[in-house]
This record gives sequence, C-alpha cells and structure tokens, in this order.
Amino acid sequence: MPTVKLTLPHHAYDIVIEPGALAQAGERVRAVVPHERAAVVADENIRSTYGRAVHEALEHAGYDAAVCSMSASESSKTLDTVAGLLDTMLEHRMERRSPVVAVGGGITGDVAGYAAASLLRGVPFVQCPTTLLAMVDASVGGKTGVNTRQGKNLVGAFHQPALVLIDPDTLATLPPRDLRGGLAECVKHGVIRDAGLFDWIDANLDAVLGLERDALVELIRRNVAIKAAVVQEDETEQGVRAHLNFGHTFAHAIEATQDPSADPYSHGEAVALGMVAAARLAVDAGRCEPAVLDRLERLLDRIGLPTSSDRLVPEDALLAVMRSDKKVRDGRVRLVLPDAMGAVSVVDDTPDAAVRAAWASLRG
Ligand code: GLY
Repeated sequence: MPTVKLTLPHHAYDIVIEPGALAQAGERVRAVVPHERAAVVADENIRSTYGRAVHEALEHAGYDAAVCSMSASESSKTLDTVAGLLDTMLEHRMERRSPVVAVGGGITGDVAGYAAASLLRGVPFVQCPTTLLAMVDASVGGKTGVNTRQGKNLVGAFHQPALVLIDPDTLATLPPRDLRGGLAECVKHGVIRDAGLFDWIDANLDAVLGLERDALVELIRRNVAIKAAVVQEDETEQGVRAHLNFGHTFAHAIEATQDPSADPYSHGEAVALGMVAAARLAVDAGRCEPAVLDRLERLLDRIGLPTSSDRLVPEDALLAVMRSDKKVRDGRVRLVLPDAMGAVSVVDDTPDAAVRAAWASLRG
C-alpha cells in the first residue's frame, strides 16, 4: 500500500495510506513509538467507532491507552479544551515517550497535536485522520494549535507527527458535504503545483464521489505527496509553504464574517469561493489566462462546491478581516495568485480596489 515519506533535517515520518489501517494502528504505532502508555484523542462523533477501533488496537498491541473525546467544532478549538486533555493525560501518567494519537478531522488533530506539543514539553504524536480534508492537508506537516477570541489559529506550535495513518475506508461514513469540502483542498493542490492532478480529479471525479477505493487511495496519495513535498521544502512557512494558502485569505474573511447560526459555509466551501476570487483577481490583473478561472469554476461546480455567493457581507468588512490575518506583512494583504494551472506566486502589492472587485465578482 502507498507510503509517502516526509523527511526534514531533524525528523522523518511515514504517511501510510491503507484501507483497514485503523485496525492495524497498534502494531503500526508500536513500530514507531513503543511505550507502555498512550492517549487517544477522538472526535466525540466517532469515539464509539473509529476512536474505539484505534483504542482497541493500541490495547491489543500492549499499550495502556486513555481515551479522551472532544467536540470537533471551531468553538471547541480552545486552550480550555487543550487544558482538559492535558489533565487527562497527566492523570494517566503519560511520559516523554508516551504517544498521543488523534482520531478525527482537522480540528481534533490540531488540538490533540497542540496538547502533544505541550505535554512534558513534547511527546510523540500520531495522526489518524478520518476526514478527506485532514487526510490530504491538516494531518501532514506539523501545524497544531487553537483559536483565541482574537482569531483563528493564533496560538500553536509546529509539532511534526511520528506517523500519519490514513484509512480511506473511514470516508464511507463521512457526510458527502465534508467529502466535497475536502476536495476543495485537493483542487487547490492541483492549481498551485500539479496541473496533472487537476486533470486527474476532473477525469476521476465520479469514481471519487462514488467512494471507489482505488480512486480514493490514488487521490489521497497524490495529494499527500504534494503536501509532503511542500513541507519538506519549507517546514515553517518562510516561503513556498505559503502557496498552500491559495484561496485561504479570502476564505478566512468569509468564515470570520458569516453568521454561525445561518447554515454557514464549511471551510472547504469558503476555500472554493476564495480560490475563485483569487483566480478572478489574477485574470483581471493580467497575471493568468481566463481559461484557468473557467476550468477552476467548472470543476468546483461539478464537485458541488460554491463558485458565487449572495451571502457575503460588504467588501469593506471582508477587507478589514483580510488585513487582520496573521499572514499580513507590513499592513499589506498577502495573496497567493495563479500564474497558470499548476503554478502560483505570492503577491504583496495588490491594490485594495482589485481585492474589492474580486469580492464583488463573487456576488454573481
Ligand atoms: N494547511 C496549510 C499548511 O499546512 O501550511
């Protein structure tokens, strides 16, 4: 089964993609981080299914494993949740070599990873992502952290996992809307780095949405390989890792300004809108061919992701959030803009009027 290796100067780890992998989690984890004790942190929605499977596998492999569950909502991605996890882990007498194993989506991985980075100044961390978004993006690369009242992901640490164990069979129970949201990040990888991947998604979309196993394994393998290559080049986002933010500065503004009680856009849906806005801006600035935007809109549309919206707040409010993003440099909004299919640049000098026009274009 496919394994992608991520090699950094100080650390290397495998990203294993294998149907049925969760049942093997005990042996897999033991091979990398053997110890008497471990802690499983599971999204409460899957605690009794995948969380339990991983717990049983760890116990079977000889670990005394505590189980903590958490609500995997943005509002639970807090220091309070981390404190609760740390409390349970310390009560369980975790030691410096005791692994923390996250089972769930991106929020679970981010919070569990930050607890692992903090506990005893850092214990081994294993990711078992169960959403497409976490498989192809969040579980790889070591970003961990929480939200504060000042904004998203403003407190955190780079804490690379010791192992990422991806079981594509878990996607069978993922709500279709979440599968489509994860595909937004796959499309992003195609636009920023791999025109061939974009073509592959276009050609194999029915098989992916039909959850055909071979198609899912290939989709995940190709995307993980891209994410790993980017992180290998630039672990701490001094350069090329910023390309992964394509569509995200716009997306974060949408997420920060939407009404949480009115069927808000998911992260993947906001990223889809953000990618369209960024591509539109690039086309209008003469940076890239209109065909890139056309192909992007058509593929997102086929996936079932939004490409226009009648629910955005006024442009000034959106621009204000973009300015407060942690990626702002010297007060200028940093945008990742496509040059062609498979190639992007970071641009620091986009005039406000062009950003406003890109937002306006999303209103359809
Ligand atoms: N999800 C963006 C990154 O890992 O850098």
